[in-house]
Amino acid sequence: MSLYPLIRPLAFALDAETAHRLTIKALKIMPPRQPPDFPTSLGIRVAGIDFPTPVGLAAGFDKDAEVAEQMLSQGFGFVEVGTLTPRPQDGNPKPRLFRLSEDHAVINRMGFNNCGQPAAYDRLHESMRRPAIVGVNIGANKDSADRIADYVAGVRAMAPVAKYLTINISSPNTPGLRQLQDEGALNALLEAVNGARPKGGPPIFLKVAPDLGEGEPDQIVRVAIQHGVDAIIVANTTISRPVLKSRFADEQGGLSGTPLKTLALKDLRDFHSASAGQIPLIGVGGIATADDAWERLRAGASLVQLYSAMVYEGPGIARRIAKHLAERLEREGIGNISELVGTA
Ligand SMILES: Cc1cc2nc3c(=O)[nH]c(=O)nc-3n(C[C@H](O)[C@H](O)[C@H](O)COP(=O)(O)O)c2cc1C
Repeated sequence: MSLYPLIRPLAFALDAETAHRLTIKALKIMPPRQPPDFPTSLGIRVAGIDFPTPVGLAAGFDKDAEVAEQMLSQGFGFVEVGTLTPRPQDGNPKPRLFRLSEDHAVINRMGFNNCGQPAAYDRLHESMRRPAIVGVNIGANKDSADRIADYVAGVRAMAPVAKYLTINISSPNTPGLRQLQDEGALNALLEAVNGARPKGGPPIFLKVAPDLGEGEPDQIVRVAIQHGVDAIIVANTTISRPVLKSRFADEQGGLSGTPLKTLALKDLRDFHSASAGQIPLIGVGGIATADDAWERLRAGASLVQLYSAMVYEGPGIARRIAKHLAERLEREGIGNISELVGTA
């Protein structure tokens, strides 16, 4: 039975960032448990990694790699920690995290607050010996004079403790970061990243923004394939504002959760048609149910991730989605989840 319906009113009585901090603290003192067993129908191989289920925890919840094991025990098939920058940084002034309850959404302008890569390295070192799939999302420090050099440093520093690395160039909260998605800049970035990739090191994923212009998905896919990127994560939070009910609607930052769903799905379809199956895609943005995950897989995602829906539904959401996906596969006579990918 989930305790979350009891805990939620307490968490929602606090401001969003305090609630998040306390949640991490509570998770940290939880005794480690074995992750659940998943039916083999949910297993999928992507970028050379065998994922037990396609449902992962998106970056930003466990920025400092404090509770990855606990989140795997909750039923996530994989956990992405970070964004981690080479040096620790405080992020933007508070308040910077808002729950838009009426909209089942979140706005954040955290600005890569994190403990820095060396501190996270020590924590991750432990989990590397286990089969757990923990990916490390890396970024650039806000005051960095050379952003590309920060990604190079991140690849070098974190490759030994990452099952995969995500190059995050899509946060709206570090001014100018998204310009690294432009064709010339992306070429230079990925060339530098490739120079830093250790032989036999982890696969590299690229995380993009949902607010791209006409033709940009084609450009990004072309450059990513040229440089041997192993998967593209579509997408980060949006700076656009669909109609929202909450009083926090006009807060600056990136919007996530239900109002991002339509845009993230459309972007995924654009990336799927641009890539024609040549590079795996990971769908994220507004996923809250097994039907949402199913739709994303059919639209071309090999894996999905979520964060905001967990704020409203609790950490048991991953296990529930996995269970419902497995039931639907069985009902529809589909042997393995991979058969769904890109079928619509
Ligand atoms: C509070 C918060 C912090 C986030 N921080 C990061 C981050 O540090 N790095 C990153 O790549 N994405 C970050 N994200 C974006 C999520 O990983 C995800 O792409 C986005 O929230 C859309 O998924 P969702 O609608 O399921 O939340 C953050 C999201 C939220 C809500």
